[in-house]
Amino acid sequence: MQKDIYSGQVQSKKCSALNGSAILPGDKSISHRSIMFGALAVGETIISGLLEGEDVLHTADAMRAMGAKIAMGDDGLWRVHGVGIGGLQEPDEVLEMGNSGTSTRLLMGLVGGHDITVTFTGDASLRKRPMKRIVTPLEMMGATFLCRSGHRLPLTVCGAQDALPIEYKLPVASAQVKSAIMLAGLNAAGRTTVIEDHPTRDHSENMLSHFGVNVDVEEIEGGAYAVSLVGHQELKGCAVDVPSDPSSAAFAAVAALITEGSDITLPNVGVNPRRDGVFVTLKEMGADIRYENERVEAGEPVATLRITAKDILKGIDVPEERVPSMIDEFPILAVAASCAQGTTRMTGLAELRVKESDRLLMMAQGLKACGVDLEMGEDSLIIHGTGKPPKGGACVETALDHRIAMSFLVLGCASEEPIAVDDASPIKTSFPNFIELMNDLGARIGDEAEQGEGLRLA
Ligand code: S3P
Repeated sequence: MQKDIYSGQVQSKKCSALNGSAILPGDKSISHRSIMFGALAVGETIISGLLEGEDVLHTADAMRAMGAKIAMGDDGLWRVHGVGIGGLQEPDEVLEMGNSGTSTRLLMGLVGGHDITVTFTGDASLRKRPMKRIVTPLEMMGATFLCRSGHRLPLTVCGAQDALPIEYKLPVASAQVKSAIMLAGLNAAGRTTVIEDHPTRDHSENMLSHFGVNVDVEEIEGGAYAVSLVGHQELKGCAVDVPSDPSSAAFAAVAALITEGSDITLPNVGVNPRRDGVFVTLKEMGADIRYENERVEAGEPVATLRITAKDILKGIDVPEERVPSMIDEFPILAVAASCAQGTTRMTGLAELRVKESDRLLMMAQGLKACGVDLEMGEDSLIIHGTGKPPKGGACVETALDHRIAMSFLVLGCASEEPIAVDDASPIKTSFPNFIELMNDLGARIGDEAEQGEGLRLA
């Protein structure tokens, strides 16, 4: 049997320029929503470009367990036959959500608005993540919960018999919480409103509109938004083209920017302004990143990204108000900052502590082991770059976090000595062909057996 290249320790060696064009996998956030909304719709939804990563496959399994018909055809298209709002069935089994916080939190919302009882569990990373932020508004809508201490998984949701519409101001900037409330609101009698002071990704709003639901988005005072919908509207099955994931594109982009002579093209990448903060930031650091062939598809802005390594990046202060539009990209931005000239200050990062891992800690620990000069605060990371990639030569702990693993493998493309990650398997949750795609562009990522001696854990 062929060895799984993602299992166990994987290392990345300094490479020469990255060149060529690569089609990246589908956007994870949009893929989850296309399956969920298709499963709630009346009629058939046909999805192209779906991310077939483990997280999205968990969403598909969960929706199947609640009655939807979901299958991938020989043509590579996914076809979903939905149950209609109010039509979810109670699953026979506990739902296993793996590593996927987005699946779990959005589905808690969906179940919370239906009169069914569902138990969710997940891997060691997901079982650590806080769920109170979802439980609180859903209790106001009539759902009840039985959770482990700290509102953690395994957790049982008893959905509301007749869900109540609410108006709710988000205490944390979170698209997952906003989406969970909207999903519960789809089966509530009346208008559900979510107010967000710091606008987060709006894929739920865009895609619900694409499925024929009337969603009102109103800018209120001070840049805050009120997002609302009236329950019991029908979702109509439709065609969804999922663009490539900007969060995945960021790994290839930074790899190209820190590797002299690189020039890569990434077609059909989502560039929704609520998601593209990392590209805006890299441009401010002096990166040559161009959006070509810009257009809107299924309500989402997309473009071809052209990334050319030119001057050495320079350190900057990342504005705090930009954090929600690049919340998943701080690990890879920290890699870019480690190769930049001067200091990069990243603040307002408290949410990074409750992602798939404590990303502030994992990045600070790993970068230090690679020779980077940095300061970590409660919610900040300050990196002092020398204008040259760091030494490397460490094996970094990834704590079941795909983005930590990919970030360090990208840094290994440029560091003097190889960088290894202790476990590359979580990469398959969001970017199942990361190693192959990066190596096609010119990276040298592989297991230590192929590449010589393994590195010891830092
Ligand atoms: C997501 C929202 C973000 C992000 C996650 C995907 C989504 O989480 O980190 O990877 O698809 O709604 P928060 O809502 O917790 O910020």
